[in-house]
Order: sequence, then structure tokens, then C-alpha cells
Amino acid sequence: MLKVIDHPLIKHKLTVMRKKETGTKDFRQNLDEIGGLMVYEITRDLPLKPIEIETPICQYTGYELAKKVVIVPILRAGLGMVNGIQDLIPTAKIAHVGMYRDEETLEPHTYFEKYPKNLEDAITIVVDPMLATGGSSVAAIDMVKKQGATNVKLVCLVGAPEGVKTVEKAHPDVDIYLASLDDHLNEHGYIVPGLGDAGDRIFGTK
Ligand code: PRP
Ligand code: URA
Repeated sequence: MLKVIDHPLIKHKLTVMRKKETGTKDFRQNLDEIGGLMVYEITRDLPLKPIEIETPICQYTGYELAKKVVIVPILRAGLGMVNGIQDLIPTAKIAHVGMYRDEETLEPHTYFEKYPKNLEDAITIVVDPMLATGGSSVAAIDMVKKQGATNVKLVCLVGAPEGVKTVEKAHPDVDIYLASLDDHLNEHGYIVPGLGDAGDRIFGTK
């Protein structure tokens, strides 16, 4: 399932990020804030379990999250989405998948992976601002599934229709959340209109 999260604050902040004159500090801050705003939709179906508590007045049956949440940023750019999500799910564990896209072939290359225990019992949220050809997201989802993850969500900021199709074909069980479904990929594999190279804009590199 593809869900494009339609919210005026997200549209406003994403437009700031798209502007070429927006600097690293404002780019990072808006990414962080959009990550937080997306959490409400991403977590809408999280399972709960009842717990007995006492309020200052009486006994009460409340709820707590039934499953561990694991956030999996695809390095580097995915790191920019972690804080906004973790602020609202402070108990979330963080895995890391290091991957870069070859500029010529556009194929993803993995250079690092690290996971918490028992991914099979968790809700696993793979995060990366950019879903372009979909190669990196598909590879990262392959990797977390190999570690045992069964309940996987993919959260990106900007996606191209080509990337969405590729992920849907490879992993039809994975829900995809975007802040914007953009128009297409250009001949260099960049998203149009997009926001340029997310990793470079977050970290001030080129
Ligand atoms: C970017 C982006 C995604 C990938 C998307 O990372 O953050 O991981 O490209 O492209 P795809 O859908 O075609 O695979 P990049 O390889 O530039 O690495 P970086 O995050 O270290 O800058
Ligand atoms: N990676 C990026 O950072 N931006 C794009 O437009 C495509 C891939």
C-alpha cells in the first residue's frame, strides 16, 4: 500500500527543503520536523496491549505498545529522519544500514549493517528521505527481512513513481509512506522536482 501523507505543514516544510538556496541547518531542521509529523500516520495501526494501572482516582485499564519498534535509517541520508521519529517513540531501537548508490550504474552498494535482537517480533521502519529507482530501499528491506523482520514499513520523504513500483513489486507486503509522490526520474536517476542530493544537503558535503 502506498500512502502519501497530505498535510499543510508537511507541504510547507517540504517546499522549504526543495528550495536550492536552503542551507544545511534549515534543511536538517525541516527534515527532522517532517519526520515527526509523519509519525502519526505511520504508527496509526501499531498494536496495543491492555495494562492495569491506578490513576490518582481509581483502577483503570490503559494501553501500551504491544511490539518493539525498530527504526532502520539507510545511511547516510536516512539518519536525518531518525530524531523526529524517535522523539515520539523514545523506546524505539535504531538499526543501521550503510549503503551508497553507484553514480554510473545507480546500483546500491552496502558497506555496513547492525541490528538489535529479535527483529521478528518488532515493527521495523526503514527510513530514507529519497526513493528514486528504489534499488536502495529494496536492498535494505531484503536485509532486514533476512534478519527476521516480518512487519516492515518504508518511510521516505520524496518518492518517484519508478521507485514506488519497484518496491511494490519486490515487497508487496511493505507499506510505503511518502510526504510527496514526485513526477519522474531524470537521466541521472535524480527525482524531479525532488530536492537534489539529500545526503549532501543534510551533511554539507558535495
Ligand atoms: C541516496 C538516498 C537513497 C538513494 C536513493 O543515497 O539517500 O539512499 O540515494 O536512490 P535509489 O532509490 O535509486 O537507490 P546516496 O547513495 O546518495 O548515499 P548518501 O545517503 O550517503 O548520500
Ligand atoms: N538520491 C538523492 O539524494 N536524490 C535524488 O534525487 C535521488 C537519489
